[in-house]
Amino acid sequence: MNGNKVLVIGLGQIGYSNAEYMTMKGLAVDGFDISDKAVQRAIDDQVIRKKASSFAGYDYYIICISTHRPDDMFVPYLDGLFDIAKRIAYEGKTGALVGVDSTITRGTSEKIMEIFRHRMHVVHVPHRFYINEKHDHGVRQTRVIGGCDACCLQKARHFYGELLDIPLHEVESVEVAELTKIVENSYRFVEIAFAEELKMFCDRAGIDFDELRNAINTKWNIKVLEAREGIGGHCLPKDSQMFLNLSKNLLEASIIDAAKKVDAEYREHISYAVQAKVKPVELH
Ligand SMILES: NC(=O)c1ccc[n+]([C@@H]2O[C@H](COP(=O)([O-])OP(=O)(O)OC[C@H]3O[C@@H](n4cnc5c(N)ncnc54)[C@H](O)[C@@H]3O)[C@@H](O)[C@H]2O)c1
Repeated sequence: MNGNKVLVIGLGQIGYSNAEYMTMKGLAVDGFDISDKAVQRAIDDQVIRKKASSFAGYDYYIICISTHRPDDMFVPYLDGLFDIAKRIAYEGKTGALVGVDSTITRGTSEKIMEIFRHRMHVVHVPHRFYINEKHDHGVRQTRVIGGCDACCLQKARHFYGELLDIPLHEVESVEVAELTKIVENSYRFVEIAFAEELKMFCDRAGIDFDELRNAINTKWNIKVLEAREGIGGHCLPKDSQMFLNLSKNLLEASIIDAAKKVDAEYREHISYAVQAKVKPVELH
């Protein structure tokens, strides 16, 4: 067990699942979370050994904390992550690997590396976890990985690749790994917003959305999604916002901006009051 002591920081959906998987793989896993409830659940379920009272003495620090504002899950927020990095820098073991599994924006890993003054290795291994398909899309699925330096990647290959047996897709720069996750979720956001736009169009034009969608989806390269209850959760809106914040510095217009407006209109559209007012428009 010596040399394989892991501290999972943040024991929510991602952290709990990571700790569960790592414990199952035979590693010595401790946990840390600002929520006592999250820690207790992990202890009760025996996915961690104990709550870490200090960050000293671990070989691997896996950061899985939330990266949205505590009072608004649609707004990116990285202060908590930098506070954790400062604590690892102060108490952590020299030469340890710090894996950031939380979703972050471009440039975050390098900032963390600066906080560590290059005393630890830093990689970003964004998660693609999907709770409803935990077996196929849980901890062990193809994951993109980028490191701040070659030595960081080398250490991470051993941990994520060999010890955890996770198939890795390595990218040249850690920035590409950071962008991969937020672009994946931006793409998904736009796809859903398109379905919402089409649904609103259909409702107002007196067209059966499902019939139209089924007809369109018979084409081999098209898959219009369902329009459901609006784009929620703490991943898609916040991650798309991270990408929008980057792209608006470089581009005049963004399809994500438009998609956000469509989603906001769709939420109103499906609320009971608006729904009651919708009258199909007669088409001539
Ligand atoms: N859940 C998913 O399907 C999913 C998929 C991919 C990526 N992610 C990303 O992973 C990260 C975590 O997501 P999650 O779903 O596990 O969130 P979650 O809300 O289930 O858990 C986050 C945990 O972090 C803890 N936490 C917050 N700030 C902390 C701090 N400063 N120190 C210690 N603990 C802290 C919270 O108490 C909570 O227990 C986010 O960046 C999210 O975008 C989540």
